[in-house]
Amino acid sequence: MNFPFRYSLSTANRQPCYRGGPATLVCKAVMEETHDARTFVFEDRQSRTFDFKPGQYATFKFEIGGKLCPRAYSICSTPTRPHNIQITVKRVPGGVVSNWLNDEMRPGMEVEIADIGGTFNYLDLPSSKPLFLSGGSGVTPVISMLQYINDVVDPTDVVFVYFSRTPRDIIFRDQLEFIAKRFKNVTIHLVVGDDSEEPHFPGAKGHIGAALMQSLVPDLQEREIFMCGPEGFMKAAREMARQISVTALHEESFGEKITIDDTGDPGGEVYFALSGKHGKCAPGETLLEAALNVAIWIESSCQQGVCGSCRIRMTQGAVDMNDLGGLSDEEKAGGYVLACCSRPRGAVSIEA
Ligand code: FES
Repeated sequence: MNFPFRYSLSTANRQPCYRGGPATLVCKAVMEETHDARTFVFEDRQSRTFDFKPGQYATFKFEIGGKLCPRAYSICSTPTRPHNIQITVKRVPGGVVSNWLNDEMRPGMEVEIADIGGTFNYLDLPSSKPLFLSGGSGVTPVISMLQYINDVVDPTDVVFVYFSRTPRDIIFRDQLEFIAKRFKNVTIHLVVGDDSEEPHFPGAKGHIGAALMQSLVPDLQEREIFMCGPEGFMKAAREMARQISVTALHEESFGEKITIDDTGDPGGEVYFALSGKHGKCAPGETLLEAALNVAIWIESSCQQGVCGSCRIRMTQGAVDMNDLGGLSDEEKAGGYVLACCSRPRGAVSIEA
């Protein structure tokens, strides 16, 4: 009997490989992780295997209701299992893409991937004593790194502290407990804010802060921190890191950002100087969205103000730029903005 869905490792080695760039993926499976988070497994339509680094993100171009919605999600699977990539997406109140994925994505549906990238990964930032620190869905790049450590039997002394609201919000709990039990060099602390639903919860209770972190990780000051989570969590984690003067800090912050209508940015006319086209940013819309609306393609990847690939020069006007470090101070001084996270304050002119 023929089992076309089964692969051998030697087959994997011989298969052509996807290393980035536009491609079509097919949803292979959808798996429940928690009451509000699902994992989506995607295969390449051309049956290529995937080459990436544990901790990197993929940028997708979802089409929802006839509108293009680019989003970056950390890959939660590991390159040591290369036949597919997986993302885990938690519902966000008002989140267009996260809710659409959870409600609509089914096996057999196709999605467009734009690229894979990111320097927040286990191979480009080698550390002898890493501390992974996550809140909520910020566990996704970390599970990729931990699975990699598991698969290659990496002996690095790793500590992972994972904060969730309640025990039922812990994503990948089974996998984390399995890895912690199996590898003596990996210590995992699960921390919840409220454990009332599980009276004998084996982890800790509390919120991120210097005192709790020092009690869980006695050698905290010697460790290099890799943190990922929603914005509120990252802010508290940065404050904790500042209080204890950590050796080094690396950040990733993905998750759907919701457009808030009362941000105060008025939107405005956009003049695309190189193509001679005029467009319009509605309040809350980014320059990247305005460009897409008039069929101007600006290179982009993370869509979160991290990677810098949507860097563009603004020659007139002002924007509110909500970036996460994707531009250097020199670039900002040189008039560059990130199109994916810049919202005009009135009329602007950009070199696109
Ligand atoms: S696409 Fe990455 S910073 Fe804009």
